[in-house]
Amino acid sequence: MVVGMTANLQVTCDALIIGSGAAGLTLALSIANQAKVILLSKNTIHESSTLYAQGGIAAVFDKNDSIESHVKDTLKAGAYLCDPAIVKHTVQAARPAMEWLIKQGVRFDTQPERNGQNPFHLTQEGGHSHRRILHAADATGKELHQTLQQQVIAHPNITVLEHHNGIDLITSRKLHQTGHRVLGAYACDLTTLTIKTIAAKFVILATGGASQVYQYTSNPNISSGDGIAMAWRAGCRVANMEFNQFHPTCLYHPKARNFLLTEALRGEGAVLQRPDGSRFMLDFDERAELAPRDIVARAIDYEMKRLGADCMYLDISHREADFIQHHFPTIYEKCLSLGIDITRERIPIVPAAHYTCGGVMTNQQGQTDLAGLYAIGEVSYTGLHGANRMASNSLLECIVFARYAAQDILYQLSHIPIPDALPLWDATHVTNSDEAIVIAHNWHELKLFMWDYVGIVRSNKRLARAQRRVVMLQKEIEEYYSHFTITGNLLELRNLVQVAELMIRCAQARQESRGLHYNIDFPETSKQQLPTILQP
Ligand code: FAD
Ligand code: SIN
Repeated sequence: MVVGMTANLQVTCDALIIGSGAAGLTLALSIANQAKVILLSKNTIHESSTLYAQGGIAAVFDKNDSIESHVKDTLKAGAYLCDPAIVKHTVQAARPAMEWLIKQGVRFDTQPERNGQNPFHLTQEGGHSHRRILHAADATGKELHQTLQQQVIAHPNITVLEHHNGIDLITSRKLHQTGHRVLGAYACDLTTLTIKTIAAKFVILATGGASQVYQYTSNPNISSGDGIAMAWRAGCRVANMEFNQFHPTCLYHPKARNFLLTEALRGEGAVLQRPDGSRFMLDFDERAELAPRDIVARAIDYEMKRLGADCMYLDISHREADFIQHHFPTIYEKCLSLGIDITRERIPIVPAAHYTCGGVMTNQQGQTDLAGLYAIGEVSYTGLHGANRMASNSLLECIVFARYAAQDILYQLSHIPIPDALPLWDATHVTNSDEAIVIAHNWHELKLFMWDYVGIVRSNKRLARAQRRVVMLQKEIEEYYSHFTITGNLLELRNLVQVAELMIRCAQARQESRGLHYNIDFPETSKQQLPTILQP
């Protein structure tokens, strides 16, 4: 059902949610009994990072575990740049959030009942000092997404618009009205290339991360930083964009370069090896394969460069075949289809861009600097992850902050009027492009220099090179954008180049090495523990 659609393509609703991953779906379901919701997805409803999540979701369920321990591990993994109050705020809400998911029908793996103790099978991942990861085999995201998606589609108050790409926010300031409030957004229907104007009391950015800015990434194509760029253009602060997480273990194979090999493999005993079969993680950290991701990814990168090797290896073949097939069915099948039997052979791996720790600044309810605008999930910077996100804390942040934001929206819902008619999109000044090659070329160039100059190991010179290039690309793309008809690729490229510029700016501002940001010209960690905040 489409709510309030008119002939001039203006649509109205209480809440416009941009994004259909864990964060967007959770928020939609949490407000839909009281509010009319439009949910945009620029691809199909299920295409999202959420769908591919493997390892699971962190929450304290084991009787030997505690909130304090989860907090302590998160702060340590985040290289002490997390906001301690936000970490506590999140970790305390983890168990109720998991109980909500279970109530929605999400089925986490269980273990045989042990005298009334925790019924769930909990796995372990890097940085966690206890087993605290709830999971559905090695396809947790799929289980979560399918369950929530079914309910969203069936809900009479939620209108899902698939293949609709949010372009830009409409704000009172842009319309020269008083105050600084979001009034809605423009969205491109990618099947017809027409632009809708959507007026809403509240807009929620749930657009995921920006790892597509890098040449190699575990993320699907949708992760192009759209929400971060949209919020920045609308006048919101962003923070900590220098901290892009590289997952240590993606499959190295010509036919499946970006397939993830969950950290839970290492949690269940998999070891990392050099090409000659020797282990190396103990040379870098006493926690070996279970050190936080920044340390493991850097160690792999170091060994690859030192030995001139194309990849390192992950080996779990010492565990029983039954155990491997039962716990890691997706990975087992995928590798087997490529000719690698992981019950008998080791797996070639490389690191790849995986997670955007920074993003749009929010408070404890997910509110941004712009009244009525919320940012939840990977698009946001809440203060939870600091300089390095601990494994399985991301899905947790999506669910917890979606529920906090929902409470806040419902509290305000009846006091906020639906905005008056908004100006329609003006496309009179653009024509069809005669050289789309510009987009393909700039896309390739951007991803390559970000990988080479703003990657796992940085230097002042590399960052300066990246900065010069990004300025040039930004100019070219803005010019192209103002002359030619919008396409999905153009919108994504425009956002990616904006996000790249913010990442470089943050990386240049941080004159130390901490967590995921390692600069050979500033190898020490400073005593000051401050986020990098950019003001538009
Ligand atoms: P996403 O799930 O990425 O969804 C974003 C949505 O926004 C999509 O629907 C997209 O189409 C839409 N969108 C984006 N831009 C626009 C636009 N302009 N207009 C309209 N729609 C738009 N984290 C964990 O905690 N545990 C794990 O086990 C885990 N495993 C992972 C495995 C992989 C392979 C990957 C890639 C990530 C993993 N992560 C994991 C990270 C976690 O999955 C993500 O951080 C999380 O799913 C992000 O959820 P989200 O709702 O914020 O965004
Ligand atoms: C993984 O399963 O290794 C990914 C977990 C995460 O990104 O939190």
